[in-house]
Amino acid sequence: MKTLVTGGAGFIGSNLADRLLADGHEVRVVDDLSTGKESNLTGALETGRCELVKMSVTDKSFADLVDGIDVVYHLAAQADVRISVADPVFDVDVNVLGSVNVFEAAANAGVGRVVFASSGGTIYGEPAVLPVDESAPQRPLSPYGVAKKAAGDYLYYYQQVRGIDGVVLALANIYGPRQDPHGEAGVVSIFAGVINEGKAPVIYGDGSQTRDFVFIDDVVDAFVLAAERGDGLMNIGTGEETSVNELYYEIAKAMGSDAKPEYGPARTGELSHIALDASLAERELGWAPKTGLPSGLAKTIDWIRS
Ligand SMILES: NC(=O)c1ccc[n+]([C@@H]2O[C@H](COP(=O)([O-])OP(=O)(O)OC[C@H]3O[C@@H](n4cnc5c(N)ncnc54)[C@H](O)[C@@H]3O)[C@@H](O)[C@H]2O)c1
Repeated sequence: MKTLVTGGAGFIGSNLADRLLADGHEVRVVDDLSTGKESNLTGALETGRCELVKMSVTDKSFADLVDGIDVVYHLAAQADVRISVADPVFDVDVNVLGSVNVFEAAANAGVGRVVFASSGGTIYGEPAVLPVDESAPQRPLSPYGVAKKAAGDYLYYYQQVRGIDGVVLALANIYGPRQDPHGEAGVVSIFAGVINEGKAPVIYGDGSQTRDFVFIDDVVDAFVLAAERGDGLMNIGTGEETSVNELYYEIAKAMGSDAKPEYGPARTGELSHIALDASLAERELGWAPKTGLPSGLAKTIDWIRS
């Protein structure tokens, strides 16, 4: 199969590219390398079946890259909630206009299937019931969440009216190897990276905020299954809440550190509590997370140390 992965030089996209290549497919990565790295694709490029095109998904000539593609995985994004708060116009440009550019090109080229990386941690806002399922109202509380919701709505239009089979994966908090420890998005990598340097990390807020942590390999499984079947919005999460404090002490214990975290002011646009009910993905895709937090953390820590 010929596949195209936008954002394929990033954390999730490069892990997905590796898996698609291992499954025997061809992979065209389109990435502007704004946060992604070519080095994430070293092994992929060595296969000879992966090509990297350095281009923004907002570029009109993206349309030239989709001819003959069977599945588009759209992961390219401005993926930082805080940047979306500081510069919502930039966020909308990449996350809404860029997404529409990708979907429009896919529809015009007759691409059969598009799988879109949305954000279950933001599109529902602060849900009344946890774990939240897909029937809950979508009331995002950050520009990033609004943009992800809007792009998901666009994909629904392309599905209903323009003949694309579309799946919107509402992802929980993903962690694992290749998540940038110097970025802002991946709290697991940030904590492990800081502890590895012998320092104490800063927890923003009192650390009682909860998140639903899913290991990267499980998420890659979900993308692969979503390219085969299913449609519409599907949550990808474990359904379990872990507080940021619990996460910190779990990582510190696994790394043999007794450093105490520092606490800073809570950040605008961050939710208090989230966990995603993924029973729809289980029924429709046959997907369920396989990696528990201790084992996923151990693999991530190994990667940070290496
Ligand atoms: N990591 C998570 O916990 C998480 C949770 C929910 C949703 N998501 C979504 O999953 C996707 C992948 O996230 P990630 O964690 O791998 O982030 P990442 O920053 O590692 O990857 C995003 C990739 O998109 C590329 N990119 C950014 N703007 C682009 C543009 N205009 N044109 C082309 N490429 C561009 C970046 O260079 C990077 O390689 C994103 O859509 C993100 O919003 C991630």
